[in-house]
Amino acid sequence: MIETTVRKQYDNLASVYDQRWKSYIANTLSFLQTWAQISPLDTVLDVACGTGEFERLLLTDNSTQNIVGVDISDKMLAIAKQKCSAYPQVSFHTASASALPFDSNTFDVIVSANSFHYFDNPLAALIEMKRVIKPNGKVIIIDWCKDYFFCKILDITLKIFDPAYQQCYTQNEFHGLLTSANFTVCHAIKVRFGVFWGLMVATVSLQD
Ligand SMILES: C[S@@+](CC[C@H](N)C(=O)[O-])C[C@H]1O[C@@H](n2cnc3c(N)ncnc32)[C@H](O)[C@@H]1O
Repeated sequence: MIETTVRKQYDNLASVYDQRWKSYIANTLSFLQTWAQISPLDTVLDVACGTGEFERLLLTDNSTQNIVGVDISDKMLAIAKQKCSAYPQVSFHTASASALPFDSNTFDVIVSANSFHYFDNPLAALIEMKRVIKPNGKVIIIDWCKDYFFCKILDITLKIFDPAYQQCYTQNEFHGLLTSANFTVCHAIKVRFGVFWGLMVATVSLQD
C-alpha cells in the first residue's frame, strides 16, 4: 500500500527529479562515492537507485564497473536506463527493497542513498540486503538523520502532509535496526549538508 503511494509519487516526479534536486543529489552522492571506496572489480547493487545518478558517477570513474540498480518506480528507472544505455554491464530492475530478485551472496557492495526514510519495512529491506551480500561484502546506507533539528521538523511535517513518507531515524535508532538485522556497524558518521540537511552514513558488514 505504502509502496504503491511511493511508486506513484516518484513516477510523477521522475521527469523533474534530477533538475529539482540537482545540488542535493550531487553533494550526497559524491560524498557517498568517496565514502564507499568501491573497487573497480566490485559488483555493486544500488537499492532504490532512482534516476541512476550514483551509477553515472561510478561509471565516470570506472566505465567497466558492474552495477545493478533496483527501484519501485518504473519512470525513475526509465531515466536511469537511458543514462546508462552505453554500458551493457549495468542493469536496472523494478523491485522492492524488501524483495530483491537476486540469488543469495551475489554482491560485493550494496549501497542505498536518500531512500531509507521511504521503506515501510526497513528491517525486511536490511534482511534482504544481508541475504544478497557476499560474506565479505559491505553495505553502505546514507539517509536523513533525525538527530538534526531540521530533519526532526521535516519528519513531523512530512508524516502529516506526505503520504509516501515513512520516517527518518536518529543515528541510535538506525544502528539499532542494523544490529537487529545482524549487521556489524564498521564505520559511521553524521554529516551536515548545506545549512539545513543532516545525514548519517553507515558501512556495515555481516556479523562473524
Ligand atoms: C529520494 S529518491 C533517491 C534516489 C537515488 N538513490 C538518489 O539518491 O538520487 C528515493 C527513491 O527510492 C525509491 N523507493 C522508495 N521506496 C522504495 C522501496 N521500498 N523499494 C525500492 N525503491 C524504493 C523511490 O522510488 C525513489 O526512486
